[in-house]
Amino acid sequence: MEPILNLINKEAVRAFEAAGYDGSLGKVTLSNRPDLCEYQCNGAMAAAKKYKKAPILIAGDVAAILEKSEVFQEVTAVNPGFINMKLNREFLTGYLQDMQADENLSVEKAKEPKTIMIDYGGANVAKPLHVGHLRSAIIGESVKRIARYAGHKVIGDVHLGDWGLQMGLIITEVKKRQPDLVYFDENYQGEYPTEAPFTISELEEIYPTASGKSKEDPAYKEEALEATAKLQDGVRGYRALWQHILNVSITDLKKNYGNLNVEFDLWKKESDAQPYIPDMVEYMKKEGYAYMDQGALIVDVKEETDTKEVPPCMILKTDGAALYTTTDLATLIDRMKNYHPDEIIYLTDKRQEMHFTQVFRCARKTKLVEENTVLKHIGFGTMNGKDGKPFKTRTGGVMRLEWLIDDINAEMFKKITENHSVDEAEARETAKIVGLAAIKYGDLSNQASKDYIFDVDKFTSFEGNTGPYILYTIVRIKSILAKYQVAGGVLQNGRIGLAASASEKSLMLELTRFAPTIYQAYEEIAPHKICSYIYDLANEFNRFYHETKILSEENEEQRASWIALLDLTKRVLETCIDLLGFEAPERM
Ligand code: ARG
Repeated sequence: MEPILNLINKEAVRAFEAAGYDGSLGKVTLSNRPDLCEYQCNGAMAAAKKYKKAPILIAGDVAAILEKSEVFQEVTAVNPGFINMKLNREFLTGYLQDMQADENLSVEKAKEPKTIMIDYGGANVAKPLHVGHLRSAIIGESVKRIARYAGHKVIGDVHLGDWGLQMGLIITEVKKRQPDLVYFDENYQGEYPTEAPFTISELEEIYPTASGKSKEDPAYKEEALEATAKLQDGVRGYRALWQHILNVSITDLKKNYGNLNVEFDLWKKESDAQPYIPDMVEYMKKEGYAYMDQGALIVDVKEETDTKEVPPCMILKTDGAALYTTTDLATLIDRMKNYHPDEIIYLTDKRQEMHFTQVFRCARKTKLVEENTVLKHIGFGTMNGKDGKPFKTRTGGVMRLEWLIDDINAEMFKKITENHSVDEAEARETAKIVGLAAIKYGDLSNQASKDYIFDVDKFTSFEGNTGPYILYTIVRIKSILAKYQVAGGVLQNGRIGLAASASEKSLMLELTRFAPTIYQAYEEIAPHKICSYIYDLANEFNRFYHETKILSEENEEQRASWIALLDLTKRVLETCIDLLGFEAPERM
């Protein structure tokens, strides 16, 4: 379906031409004075200079023609030369009826679908998921769903961190604790045990212990570095142990991401890039891109126009070990070979901006990607506590994701059971659904690049610009629709009729903005546009709802028409929250 603004715009172009002016002046926008009109055109001002005629006269000429169009109910020329427009009710209803009949709710799928890879989540194996990884998962999941809804082929990859020093640290600590394990016996030739020598909770304790020790004890750190190199070199016992760490950890991560409604198509890892590294290094040396500098292998990536220093991209450390940049570059080789994406979008904390500048420049310079492969890094801001500092537990430790979710759910449960008696099990279930919406909406309603304050009280409120408010609105609609059906009404039969009040017309106008919102959210990689849209839509709906007695309306046709409008509103809201990555309960 063509966006409504295009249809309106075409009318304006025609009218400018019919009045003898350049058609391109007929550009229409949403009104910035909704109290006066719904749409406006300022083309007469620009025309005034070109035609040396008073703008109000030009606006008058054009308005006189637009008046006759079926699209408008009222067109007025106002000083100094604005053209104010209000839509015809028939035209608006016709548009909404088409939208109602369209399974894509008027969104046109991309004509030339792109293959887009989204690199998000980015958890590190054997380290507990903490709130820092929360934003990547939440934003990435939404970006993925939006691009998919826009009609593209989208592949989400978790890209786990499993190849760096943290692995060497864990191996070292395991060795200290259980030196007799067969993994450390260099002469061992047989099969390794299938059972891991640790559980997930042990693993989660091992890492911080090891990391702490390595900071105090240089010899310990040296050992961990060595273990990392041995692992990367393919020492059998180390690889077997690492495989155990992966298995135990990934099972746990799948559960955690599952609780967040985050689904990856690929569970690839940094280590999957390892097989490409030796050839990549050879190639970069042979082509003269990479050279040795103080023992390290580097590629220069600075550019003349740089305003700040961009250090060379390091390919191998002095000890020959691969780094974060190395695996990211080699991963690009894997991705180009196996998925051939048109575009790759990376979601990490914005402090990794320089890393991605280096990686992207190096990949282009060394031709690991094609000239037209788009590489984008979306760097997000920090999630802060009310004190404005990075979010911590009450005792000041690193906040684990599960704890945070538990806190929110408990608060939600309290709110849900506060006002009315509900079955405890059902309330717990509802609290989970609403709690997730509170977290995700709280995050996504901010522009990704900005820091934001994680405010439990605010995020869990049923009023204001929050996830629970949006869900509450959906639940309200669901309940009206259910009552209508219980009374014998049939949802499918309803056709949206003419707006009977100003609030109904505003709601209808808001619904037509669904498709443009989706296009914009996709183009700008901006889920927050969807949040602000559904906040406006929910407000318009609630205004209409408070002014209208829907179920007790005597006129059957009018009642059915309102029910149809509610049903469309619900479909739009539910589609939007699905794109944000959460859902609505039946009741709350
Ligand atoms: N594991 C990394 C971290 O915790 C994030 C990975 C992001 N993706 C990437 N291709 N570098 O910081």
